[in-house]
Amino acid sequence: MDNEKAGRRIADLRKMIRHHNARYYQQDAPEISDAEYDRLMRELQELEALFPDDGIASSPTQRVGAAPLAKFSPFSHPQPMLSLANAFSPEEILEFDARLRRLTKTDAIDYVAEPKLDGLAVNLIYENGLFQRGATRGDGTTGEDVTQNLRTIGSLPLKMTPSAACPFPEFLEVRGEVYMERKPFEKLNRRRETQGEDPFANPRNAAAGSLRQLDAKITARRPLNIFLYGAGSVRGAAFTTHWEILETLAAWGFPVNPLVRRAPDISAGLAYFAEIGALRPSLPYDIDGVVLKVNALALQDVLGSVSRSPRWALACKFPAQQATTVVCDIIVQVGRTGTLTPVAVMEPVTVGGVVVSRATLHNADEVQKKDIRIGDTVVIQRAGDVIPEVVRALTDKRSGREMPFRMPGRCPECGSDIVRREGEAAHRCVNLSCPAQIKEHIRHFASRGAMDIEGLGEKVTAQLFDARLIADPADLYFLKPEQLLALDRQADKSVRKLLDAIERSKTPPLDKFIYALGIRHVGERTAGLLARQFDSLQNLLRADVSTLTALNEIGPEIAQSIVEFFAEDHNRKLMEKFDKAGLMPQTPAQTTGAPLAGKTFVFTGSLESMGRTEAKSLVEAQGGVVLSSVTGKTSYVVAGSEPGSKLDKAASLRIPVISETEFLKLVGRTT
Ligand code: IVH
Repeated sequence: MDNEKAGRRIADLRKMIRHHNARYYQQDAPEISDAEYDRLMRELQELEALFPDDGIASSPTQRVGAAPLAKFSPFSHPQPMLSLANAFSPEEILEFDARLRRLTKTDAIDYVAEPKLDGLAVNLIYENGLFQRGATRGDGTTGEDVTQNLRTIGSLPLKMTPSAACPFPEFLEVRGEVYMERKPFEKLNRRRETQGEDPFANPRNAAAGSLRQLDAKITARRPLNIFLYGAGSVRGAAFTTHWEILETLAAWGFPVNPLVRRAPDISAGLAYFAEIGALRPSLPYDIDGVVLKVNALALQDVLGSVSRSPRWALACKFPAQQATTVVCDIIVQVGRTGTLTPVAVMEPVTVGGVVVSRATLHNADEVQKKDIRIGDTVVIQRAGDVIPEVVRALTDKRSGREMPFRMPGRCPECGSDIVRREGEAAHRCVNLSCPAQIKEHIRHFASRGAMDIEGLGEKVTAQLFDARLIADPADLYFLKPEQLLALDRQADKSVRKLLDAIERSKTPPLDKFIYALGIRHVGERTAGLLARQFDSLQNLLRADVSTLTALNEIGPEIAQSIVEFFAEDHNRKLMEKFDKAGLMPQTPAQTTGAPLAGKTFVFTGSLESMGRTEAKSLVEAQGGVVLSSVTGKTSYVVAGSEPGSKLDKAASLRIPVISETEFLKLVGRTT
């Protein structure tokens, strides 16, 4: 390929990938599969390596996450990053305004009002329109260089948009807040919990933890966002008001919070505070107040700063949604991977409109750090939809009879040893066959998003397990109606429904099946990626660490975990058992385009032209599936000579029954 042709292809690829990034990250409406996206990305990476050009700095290839760092380098902020003075009531806001009017000898102060996002502050450097470096706030003077991680944030422009009104400044220091929306945060936490990882306490911690990752590939998988709200030192552009800065940032392509407003005097500022307070529960992200900033930059200069906060800005904080109650007990829950989570059981109390009686205490360190004891009166709080948390104990209310919490030395479910691995916050039960772990494991397997077996919730799983009918997820497929009927609270109808749901789950999409296995670090998204890349369980079973890490998004830790999972004897046996049960994960091709995709066949009686095995492979070759029993979801029953009771079942369920000739026609074989 010559230089010119390569240059054109590179430009095309960058444009296409940017378009697909926007579809994926901003519009949540991807147009191409991850595999196709990965192919475009890989082609671009290869061409960029062969034909280096100036556009590389802003290329989408720079977003995928660079090699892990040993530690972050210190970053000196060209201009220090200040913090804000706080106000906790309208009176304090009015005092602030009165002070400023006195100091500046003016009647009314023109403000800009902005939501105060609850994330973490970052400082970004752009030179001639290109993103160069970025850092966390740190102590305000020196932060940590998190450039590689910032690049992975989809909404952060790597290249500024040229604006006719205001050309690129030669140097721009721009400040903003990196945050995570609540919904993706909750999803991330659910995934972490199913993978045996400690959940983040709130979206802010999740955003901070994600941005301060030494492995940028991990950051790239976290749903981070950014809003920009200010400038530091600027060369090559001049502003006279803060409002002008915000407008120009938006014109340059930076995400600026759409809720920012001008407030020509303090009463407008107070109205904004009330308005945003009312909007707060319906916003997709957490805010903890609003910020008022003096609009005129000249006036900001006159006012200057005291200690570390500018006199010209104020954080007006919302009252937190808190309540006090009493901790009746601290119990320990055992999760799917054996993680022990201390949970405070409290006298029910209403916080922000919701009755709360349990709050997670995360782990033993957290309980100790906060010194929460059984019998304590505690302050609890709810931030948005997040799981309630215990903020602190009111120690002056102690009677002396409170009991400190001790993590049990043995698993409360199975009595096995508890270990705490080096560097981990979690205590875990070492027993792989701990009943609590197995039950959680089976429940995860059956859950929505995984195999989606209706009717197999916590209670029924426990019932089946305790009756020794199931000891692993594959046992579900060998359950007999009479076994279930012998159980408490199970009648004909519920048993039939459950068995049908189990039968229906025998042809899961491959990604759901992979997710259902509960491999550590493999959440829904990774499972989807694996299914698309490997196309069959057999291929995935054969993959080694290097094949796996060659995929975008899969780091060494995930790869290791997958390989270890399939290498383990117990899991190998489980796979064989699934196979014996007739479980057939559907490859992505089967669930889409193929002629018999999504169709299930049941054979009864014997065929003249071929054996069952051949018939089965004919169906499978076209994306269909052969099952052994008839359910309401069966597409066709193929009746050979001397059919059995399946024919009656088909008739009663009104399932189409076809002859061998019709079957052959359907699969495209003419006799
Ligand atoms: S302005 C000198 N504007 O609040 C101005 N900060 O308590 C300094 N924050 O470190 C910051 N939203 O992390 C500003 N619209 C906003 C903000 C905001 C959130 C955070 C930021 C800052 C902290 C100060």
